[in-house]
Amino acid sequence: VVLGILASGRGSNLHSIAKAVQSGQLAAKIGVVISDKPAANALNLAADFQLPAVCVDRKQYRTQLEFEQALANELQLHQVKLVVLAGFMRILSPYFVHLFANRIMNIHPSLLPAFPGKNAQEQAIRYGAKLSGCTVHFVDEGMDSGPVILQQAVPVFAEDTPDKLAERILQQEHQAYPQAIKLYAEGKLQIDGRLVKITE
Ligand code: GRF
Repeated sequence: VVLGILASGRGSNLHSIAKAVQSGQLAAKIGVVISDKPAANALNLAADFQLPAVCVDRKQYRTQLEFEQALANELQLHQVKLVVLAGFMRILSPYFVHLFANRIMNIHPSLLPAFPGKNAQEQAIRYGAKLSGCTVHFVDEGMDSGPVILQQAVPVFAEDTPDKLAERILQQEHQAYPQAIKLYAEGKLQIDGRLVKITE
């Protein structure tokens, strides 16, 4: 399966996926890495891994629709079958979500449906949650609301800061995301309404 990875920043999830592909653990091809920000470290990482990479800068487009059409063009040009959001800090409109229906994954640093949106780790600490974690899910029209594929839990400690918790969750993210993509690539994910069934 050909992946299109969308990232806005650091790119540590991109790194873990690229490593899994490189080692042969994950039978997939990264067709293109796309960032919406020219300065994203994800673009440097893509260069390190010698992956095709392009910046589709939101500022260069008048409307969200034109921006998303440019994204879709790049993805189609590289024959992308699965869109992987890896720290992509933009909401995609229903237009884009329908273009790639059930073919967009996202990773979120909480156990959804708890703590959607920004600063999920800080939300978990403020709430007093004793467990948090990460969720890999398919993207639907809502915010962090699509069908759940995999979740991994971590403890939240009394002395945690958002950064400490984020680091603990990130270690799980780096396992869960390649694993979820692998299940998809092997045709083992079946979506039935909200429910993702993992077949063996
Ligand atoms: C991760 O915590 C991910 O869950 C969230 O954004 C962060 C991206 O980190 N969606 P990175 O750019 O992959 O290092």
